[in-house]
Parts: sequence; C-alpha cells; structure tokens
Amino acid sequence: MEVFQSPAVIALVIFTSSVLLALFERRRQRRRQALQNGCDLPPRYKAKEPFWAFDFTMKLFGDVHTMAENMQKYGKTFIVESLFSAPIIFTADAQNMPAMASKDWGNGWRRQGFEQFTGRGILTEDGEMWHQARKMIRPGFAKSNISEMSYYESVVEDFIKHLPVGRTVDIQPLFIKTASLNFMNNALHWTIGFDAMNPPKDAPYSRDEFLKLWDQGVMGTGLRLMLGSMKFLLPDKSFNRVCDSIRSFVDYHIERAMKRNDTQEPKRFVDAFISESDDRSFIRNHLIQGIIGAQDTTSVLMSNTIHFLARRPELWKELREEVLSKGDDIFSFDSLRTNTFMQNIFSESLRLRPVFPAFQRRSLRATTLPTGGGPDGTAPIYCPADTDLHLSFYALHRDPRVFGPDVEEFNPQRWKTIKPTQFEYIPFGVGPRNCLGREKSLVEAAWMLARLAREFERVEGRGSGKWQGVMKISCANKFGCEVAFFSSTRGQDGTNP
Ligand code: HEM
Repeated sequence: MEVFQSPAVIALVIFTSSVLLALFERRRQRRRQALQNGCDLPPRYKAKEPFWAFDFTMKLFGDVHTMAENMQKYGKTFIVESLFSAPIIFTADAQNMPAMASKDWGNGWRRQGFEQFTGRGILTEDGEMWHQARKMIRPGFAKSNISEMSYYESVVEDFIKHLPVGRTVDIQPLFIKTASLNFMNNALHWTIGFDAMNPPKDAPYSRDEFLKLWDQGVMGTGLRLMLGSMKFLLPDKSFNRVCDSIRSFVDYHIERAMKRNDTQEPKRFVDAFISESDDRSFIRNHLIQGIIGAQDTTSVLMSNTIHFLARRPELWKELREEVLSKGDDIFSFDSLRTNTFMQNIFSESLRLRPVFPAFQRRSLRATTLPTGGGPDGTAPIYCPADTDLHLSFYALHRDPRVFGPDVEEFNPQRWKTIKPTQFEYIPFGVGPRNCLGREKSLVEAAWMLARLAREFERVEGRGSGKWQGVMKISCANKFGCEVAFFSSTRGQDGTNP
C-alpha cells in the first residue's frame, strides 16, 4: 500500500480528519450549550462539501423546491453546519414563525448582501433607523396615494397593445423588464417620478440603459446574498461601477424633484422623502430599496399566475366571464381589491409560488425558538446571539393539515373554506415589518389580470410547462412563462383583423 506512504496523501488524511473533528467538536459544544438552556439541537443536514456547504446553497438557490424536499427528509426544522460559515437554522414550522415579528431577531443577514447595492434603508435596518424609515415611508402607501391609477392604466394599455397574439411569447421577461412599457415604468414613475414615455433629455441614462444596469445590480445582489460571508469571492470592481451608475441615475431624479418642489397629491415617493429629509444618501437608499420592492414583485406574481392559468382553460373562462359581467366598474381600486374570484387566484399563486419564498433573520441577542430540536423535533432550540435563521414560506405553504391533501394543486377554490393563521400563510410577511406594498401590488396585479381576461378569450401554455424557482432577490421561473394569447378581435400583429 505505497499510496499511504505518500506525503500528499498523509497530509490530506490529516487535513480531512482535522476538519471533521473540528465540525464534531463545534457541534458538541453547541449541543452542551443547548442542553444547559433546556433546549436541544435540530437535525443536521448532511452537506457533501464540509467547508461552506456550497452544495446545499447552490441547490437551494437554483431550485426553490429543494426547500420542500429537505423538509420532507429532515422534518420542518433542521440545521446546516459547515466549517467556515456560521450555522443556519432552516424552519418551516408555523410555531417558529413569530420569530419574524419578534424584537429578538433582525435583518443583519440581508444587510450583508444588499448594502453594496442599496445602501442602508428600511429593508436592511433594525431598531430606530428602521422605525424612522417606516414612519416616513408609510404615508406614501396610504390609499389616497396608491389608488390613483391613471398612469398605471396607460402602462397596462400599452403593454396589452404590444402583446403578440396567436403565437408563443415568453411573458415573464415582458412583465419583468421588457423593452416595451411595463411594471418597471410604473415603479420608476411612482418612486422617482421618471416618465419613460416622456424621458428627460439630459438624464444620465435612458430607461433601457438603466434597466440593464438594474438587472446587473439585482443579479449581483442575489449572488452576494447567496454567498453570505463568502461574498468576497466575487469581483467587486464591475459591480461597484454598476452600483455607482444606478446611484447617479437616482441622484439625478432627486435633484430634479428638488428643483420641481412638487406639492401635488398624490405624492411620489421621492417627493414624500424630500419633504421629510435633506439627507441625499438617506433619500437615495430608500428610493433604490423602494424600486426593489415595486419592480420585480408584482411582475413575478403576474407571470407565476399566468403560468398556472394558461394550463387551466376552465379557470380562464370563468375569470373572463367574471370580468365581462362586471363591465368597466371592475376597474377601480376597491372593486379589484374586493373581487374574491381574482384575489383567491392570487392567494393560491402566492401560496404555491411565493414571490419571496423565504426570509432570513439574525438573532440580535441570545434567544430560543419554541420547537424543532431534539430527536423527535419538539424541543426548543437555543439560539445564541448572531444565529442565522431561514424561514421558509415555500415549504410552510405546503402543509396538508392547513391547506388540504392536494397541496401541490393550483386550486383557488380552496380559499373559500380554508382559514390559515397569520403564521401559517406568510406571502407578505407578518408583524411590524409586514409588506407596505401589499394593497398596491394586489390591485395592480388584479388590474392587469382583468385587462388580459377581457382582451383575450384564451391563453394557452407553451414550452415545457416546467416551473423551477430560481432565487435572486425574488424567485422567478428559470424557464420563463411561455404562453400564447388568443383573441377573435385581434390579428397576429395585434391589430384588428
Ligand atoms: C407580490 C408582491 C409583493 C410581495 C409578495 C411582497 C412581500 C413582502 C414581504 C414578505 C415583506 C416582509 C419583509 C420582512 O419581514 O423582512 C415585505 C416588506 C416590504 N415590502 Fe413588499 N411585497 C410585495 C410587493 C411590494 C411592493 C409593490 C412594494 C412597494 C411598492 C413593497 C414594499 C415593501 C416594503 C417597503 C417592505 C418593508 C417593510 C419593513 O421592513 O418595514 N412590497 N414585502
């Protein structure tokens, strides 16, 4: 056995044994600390790569469904440990969800990934800074501010006019960033007052240049979130250039808004901030974080929903009948928000494909989770300060005891009878940090859906029909959303025949 005399092999054996010993010793210490506090450790995920558990992370970010598969294998709560990164507790147990709303847990993990791109603002801060930001932003979401929808209406009309008819189109990128007019226009108009239909001549970038930069910014941020403490592996130079360019675009619009000194109602986000603060970087950070909230979210919800409906002709027919029966009256903030048929469709879409399938929290002090530890998974879990916690809504939303035995089915009807608690169904978060854009987003999505249903008699699913959620900041289908819309009153080029 000469191979065992080779110095390289001996070194490798010593190195591997030391790694395994170190992991074992760390776990032993954590277990002792847990038991001393009347708690126990959750089951351990068996990562193949012991240094950073990269195999686990890559799988998780590349296919969100691994969340549900892991929970089936390890139970609703488990821990991922590796030598060079802090352990992360993963949970989809409704009893652990109040941690999202508790003062013991904060947003440190998100800040780590976001800060380079967005600076510090409402999405990344805790404590007083978050509290102040929320207080300042909140009035911007008052009904009087979001129910004025004439700009949005023009965006939707333009979108529908340009939609190809009778042939395959991938509607996901159209919703998300398309070269034609879309949600992003609305988001930019709402946050910084940028009118893509009438852009200022001296802006540092055109809308399409900005969209390209924005996409790179979101992608880079997603990668940094994924790598966590290993984000130093990524090249920073080009990413910093992208972030600088985005900042200069937003700064330009802050400057314009300051000169405009607009007092009109409803207020745009930028105007609301200017009237409250003259700290440029504070305003800029919040605008960038506002665009993140406003941009991808509604469009991902829409493409996920169309992906389902395109494969359920009977539902599309029912939806169209519902919309046609209401006539023009349906196109108002209140009618769309209270339309049970459409809102059940969105509830079900967000159940199966939550736009944010998980959230992370980091413990601000030593605390406990009520359940998930020990051999039978029912003991409380001790969490020292700085413990990372990953709350998986994607897996939470698949509990048959709450949603029925057919959890993987798209069945909007179930919402007529089920009543999940605020900790069993969390597409918009829960507690003091819940989503401020919920109403805005559900009404905008309903407006778009109602217009599509009125315009098109049929929508057919095309392509493979596969859905594999890839996580960047939000989670969209790797394979897009290939569909074909049909209308007897429009030709293939979109014009009347
Ligand atoms: C389908 C659409 C949307 C979904 C599923 C969604 C989901 C969420 C969730 C889960 C949170 C909780 C974050 C946490 O607990 O850390 C959140 C927070 C937030 N959302 Fe949304 N969101 C959507 C649309 C929007 C839109 C359109 C806007 C703005 C125009 C927006 C603005 C915000 C803001 C400002 C917060 C931060 C609240 C805070 O930290 O105090 N969201 N959203």
